[in-house]
Order: sequence, then structure tokens, then C-alpha cells
Amino acid sequence: MYAIHTLAELRAAVREHRLADKRIALVPTMGNLHQGHLSLVQTALQHADIVITSIFVNPLQFGPNEDLDSYPRTLTEDQQKLASVGCHLLFAPTVSEVYPDGQAAQTLVEVPGLSDIHCGVSRPGHFRGVSTVVCKLFNMVQPDVAVFGLKDYQQVAVIRKMVRDLCIPVDIIGVPTVRAESGLALSSRNGYLTQDELTAAAVLQQTLQLTADAVRQGSTDFPLLEEQAQKTLENAGFRRDFYRILNRDTLLPASPADDKVVLAAAFLGRARLIDNIEI
Ligand code: PAJ
Repeated sequence: MYAIHTLAELRAAVREHRLADKRIALVPTMGNLHQGHLSLVQTALQHADIVITSIFVNPLQFGPNEDLDSYPRTLTEDQQKLASVGCHLLFAPTVSEVYPDGQAAQTLVEVPGLSDIHCGVSRPGHFRGVSTVVCKLFNMVQPDVAVFGLKDYQQVAVIRKMVRDLCIPVDIIGVPTVRAESGLALSSRNGYLTQDELTAAAVLQQTLQLTADAVRQGSTDFPLLEEQAQKTLENAGFRRDFYRILNRDTLLPASPADDKVVLAAAFLGRARLIDNIEI
């Protein structure tokens, strides 16, 4: 595996693989890689001949009071991890390579509706930053397939809609969440948690499981289940963001007959954790 940092080098490498009729997969990340990211690479390897992982901490998707400056940057370790799972190419551009005219002068990709609910309420502009950078990465790499984690459930929904609306010729694959033994979803931001908070953090997934069990056993009073879950999380030391039983496709409040997903976000110490469960 080798690393490249400029768009010109990337285009040259991609052109070579295309001429050789290779199928190309892209795994977009912000680095500080863990087994969750690596499972995306492993899935990508099953769907393509050449796997390109991008590492770019995208300033456009961070709010003014968020953790852009403190976001962990561990390029050397990340490169070793990618090589160990068989990734072919690492694309790690600088901010000026991705935003040559500056962020303020950047054309934006806006996915209406889906971007403005749930995580979009607590993180205004976040999904615009995500859809813009992912659209740019798709245009830079022109992959046949791109792989995303279902841990960021709303992000996958936003990207699928963008791809459909803008007719981008890429297949989107969603990969199940990789978890620690406690059930906690692996996340680069778990590094912000103390040992006690890490123990408490496992309650998020346990609570989602309890909600899913209750729904499977026939409970249909979703607002009541949501409130009970919020109280459980508060008792474990979380501060509220949202906890909702939703229709899996629209991410709007679910009716009992729908295919459902429970989306949850909650604050713990310095971190904001998200997780979900499909029912
Ligand atoms: P990042 O948070 O680095 O995540 C990169 C990819 O890894 C995303 O698709 C995310 O859903 C996936 N991922 C993270 N934790 C996971 C886990 N425990 N199990 C499975 N997959 C997991 O998401 C982003 O970066 C950015 O928004 C990005 C899409 C790169 C755009 O900047």
C-alpha cells in the first residue's frame, strides 16, 4: 500500500487502474482508524479489485464549538493498519488540496429534509459539510462502489439520497457497526471518555436493545418507550440529545407496521455518542 496526498497523483493512479479495467472502491474516513473502519475496508475488498481509503478531517462538517482542532490525527498508525488489512491506496489530502479556494468560497451540496432532522438539529450544517466533501471525494476518485458504516445511520441515508438526486454512478454499501465487548460502538471519539464514562457508555447500546425487545414483544406506545429510554440514559449519567423510533427509510416517526430503526444520540462527559438498532 502507498499513500498519496495530491489530487494530481490520485487521478494518475485511478487512471491506471481504470485502464486495467479494475473495479475501484472508496472508503471515506477522517482517520484515527479502529476496527470499525477496517471492517469497511475488508467489505470493500470483497466488492472491488482496488480499495482506496481516504483520510481527511473535513473542517466543513464541524460546528464552530466542535472538536475540529482536538480531533485525533494519527496518520502513521493509520497507514500501518490499512496496510495490514490489504488496502491498496491511502489518499490523505491537505485542507487546501480539497478546498483550494477556501471553505467560504466552496460550492455546497445540500440534501434537504434528511439533513435537518435528528443529528442535523444538534449539529447545524454538519450534513451539508458531509455531503459536500463526500460528493467531492466521489468526483476525485470516481469509485464504482463506496462503503460506509451503519453506525452513522443518518449519514448513510443522506449520502444515498445525494447519490440518487445527483445521479452519481456509485453503489453505496452499508456495513454493520463494530462494537467493543461491552456493546459500545467503536468510535474515534470514545477516546474522549474516562474509564468510568466508558463503563457508563455501554448503557446506550443496552438501552437500544431493551427498546427493540419491547417493540418486538408488541409495545406500540413509541413516545412512552422513548421517554423511558431517555430516563434510563440520564440515570446512567448521560445528558439528553434525542432518542427516536423511526421509519428506516424516511427517518420520520415510525408506525407500528414499518421497518424500524431506533436512532439515539446522547452526551457523556466531553463526548456526544450516537448509536442505533434496526427492528
Ligand atoms: P469517520 O467518523 O472517520 O467514519 C468513517 C466511516 O467509518 C463512516 O462510514 C463511519 O460510519 C464508519 N464507522 C465509524 N465507526 C464505525 C463502527 N464502529 N463500525 C462500523 N463502521 C464505523 O463518518 C465520517 O468519518 C465522515 O463523516 C466522512 C464520511 C469521512 C466524511 O467526512
